[in-house]
Amino acid sequence: MTDPKNAEALKFAYWVPNVSGGLVVSKIEQRTDWGLEYNQELARIAERSGFEYALSQVRYMASYGAEYQHESTGFSLALLLASEKLKVIAAIHPGLWHPAVLAKFGASADVMTGGRFAVNVVSGWFKGEFTALGEQWLEHDERYRRSEEFIRVLRASWTEDEAEFSGDFYNLHGYNLKPKPVEVPGRPHPEIFQGGNSTVAREMAGRVSDWYFMNGNSSDGVREQIEEVSGYARAAGREPGTDIRFGLNAFIVARETEAEAHEVVDEIIAKADVEAVKGFGDAVKQAGQSTGDKRGMWQDSDFKDLVQYNDGFRTGLIGTPEQIARKIIGYREQGVGLLLGGFLHFQEEVDYFGREVMSIVRALEAEKGLAPVGAAA
Ligand SMILES: Cc1cc2nc3c(=O)[nH]c(=O)nc-3n(C[C@H](O)[C@H](O)[C@H](O)COP(=O)(O)O)c2cc1C
Repeated sequence: MTDPKNAEALKFAYWVPNVSGGLVVSKIEQRTDWGLEYNQELARIAERSGFEYALSQVRYMASYGAEYQHESTGFSLALLLASEKLKVIAAIHPGLWHPAVLAKFGASADVMTGGRFAVNVVSGWFKGEFTALGEQWLEHDERYRRSEEFIRVLRASWTEDEAEFSGDFYNLHGYNLKPKPVEVPGRPHPEIFQGGNSTVAREMAGRVSDWYFMNGNSSDGVREQIEEVSGYARAAGREPGTDIRFGLNAFIVARETEAEAHEVVDEIIAKADVEAVKGFGDAVKQAGQSTGDKRGMWQDSDFKDLVQYNDGFRTGLIGTPEQIARKIIGYREQGVGLLLGGFLHFQEEVDYFGREVMSIVRALEAEKGLAPVGAAA
């Protein structure tokens, strides 16, 4: 039997730069724009280059950079309408949406775009955002209890007629959502991703998420998470690699020479906005400290890691296309099914990555027999 983690070609996603300031908190020049036209063009470049997904960010107000932000669901729909094949994953916060209302939005977006809508359920780290909106900021593990109910209601709304749900946070009484999302072979409903790496986040992923997104990490860190989440999934009767899959974040700096790539990273760090990075570090560490076992994303991130706010340098995809492709294959062999990339100059680097790196990844996959011949890229 084929190992499920090897059954498909590795998938690629990119971060949608829908907030100002790019993906690094640095004053280095970034030829990236957070506006609509730039992003529509980027979506078209990405799908031409072999990217299957784009992930939008959700942020309601400025914080440690990101002075301007476009709303994630509306912006995601705009990108879907500007592209033909790309799937766009809209990030959302339970607590600021009712799950059935999001299910309704998602079903319409899915129907209008031929089944290309997906969501990323993020449980939140930014207390100031919730309090500024007059919303209650739940304690860390409670946020995940709410997120799990959120996902269950979302799934019930998308797949059941007369859906019923009774929970501590949400209820459904015979809710009949029509139209349902598009029927896509192998996809029971729009895919549900999650961001969050604490223990409760891992448990939740094992029970209910379709995809578990990891912050940037070393090979050991990735192995440890995949093993743990796979254990939770099996305990819930779900198969790792098919019922739950794994995505990994990386800030990718691919250049013709290794030295050039490292110079870029050095310049990003040297020009970091120190106050903003420290402010962000304090906020996220506070959010993680309130977990039951003090284990959350960013708990051991150092200054450099926080300059790319999802620990993207840790994945180490910095160097020549060949070096990066080989590292990617290493992660893929550990069970990573999707690589999520951030870039300094998005349009030009997404194009370069597709031409120079992805092509080597595909060749290595074929050489190692990692994906079946003819597997969709
Ligand atoms: C790939 C990825 C994308 C994320 N996107 C967002 C986002 O757009 N907005 C946000 O507020 N948090 C985002 N988060 C952070 C989560 O909301 C959450 O606060 C964080 O993962 C910490 O969770 P933990 O304490 O369970 O580790 C993202 C996390 C990951 C891994």
